[in-house]
Amino acid sequence: MKDFISINSCSTEELNELIELSVELKKAYKAGERDLCLAGKNLVMLFEKPSLRTRISFHIAMTDLGGNPIYVKPSDIGGLVGEREPIKDMARVFSGYVHGIMARTFRHDTVLELAKWASVPVINALTDWSHPCQSMADVLTILEHTGRIEGVKIAFIGDGNNVARSLAFAAAKLGMKLTVASPAGYELDAGSIEKANAISSGCVEQMSDPKEAVSDADVIYTDTWVSMGQEEEKQKRIKEFEGFAVDSDLMAAAGADVKVMHCLPAYRGLEISDEVAEGVNSIIFDQAENRLHFQRALLKKLMS
Ligand code: CP
Ligand code: NVA
Repeated sequence: MKDFISINSCSTEELNELIELSVELKKAYKAGERDLCLAGKNLVMLFEKPSLRTRISFHIAMTDLGGNPIYVKPSDIGGLVGEREPIKDMARVFSGYVHGIMARTFRHDTVLELAKWASVPVINALTDWSHPCQSMADVLTILEHTGRIEGVKIAFIGDGNNVARSLAFAAAKLGMKLTVASPAGYELDAGSIEKANAISSGCVEQMSDPKEAVSDADVIYTDTWVSMGQEEEKQKRIKEFEGFAVDSDLMAAAGADVKVMHCLPAYRGLEISDEVAEGVNSIIFDQAENRLHFQRALLKKLMS
């Protein structure tokens, strides 16, 4: 495993190994044990989009493991990745300086191109297509709160976006079931559903009724209706996603023990109500914390 670009390009064994390592490293971290396995190692962190969790958790993961994170924003490199100079040149220049590249980009092809030309590991820190680090932290959180991964039923309510797609592949590879409920025109793309179901038959299903989706769910998951880069569609989307909020009305259609997840940032009053985000079923902040624990494991596996 050189890179971490998408969940569907990892094997089930590799993903399980990463989850096991996350559990182990989290326990040691909480016990105050130091692990300096990345001493002397540098990670460049390229961002075309804003970030709170991803940037800070990767920064802390690197420094905590003894390494050095280098944050690069678009204006530092003269625009988007590939604008000032070809991605293949950047990838090879970085490979001479650092031991890993992490990138958050608009186009998914940008991270693929970086990985193709870099001799060091490349990590996808979110693209328009996927968000694999998020899904793996989510799986760790689900394991902690339900005691299992296999057989867990997730109802994803809202936009069939990058976060939903990575969850679909996590479901396929790790034996979970994902039901996506979206308004017409915002479904998870048929190609991804087909790909997930080819890995594990029937693991991903698309529907239009959020109440039906949550009725037998262990986990209700939602994300913004307006992803980064879609800001101009905001008003149209808010109208079209009406009826897809995770609020007390939807919670009444789910089991009393259902867990509520959101990758954050959350827009209260839109995709999730404040009451539900702050309620007893919400595990949102454990989920956010687990970005750190999964990424410590990922960096250790790829770079030490
Ligand atoms: N969930 C997540 O990736 O958050 P940021 O955009 O703040 O990194
Ligand atoms: N779907 C969201 C996730 C943010 C972490 C976006 O791409 O903006």
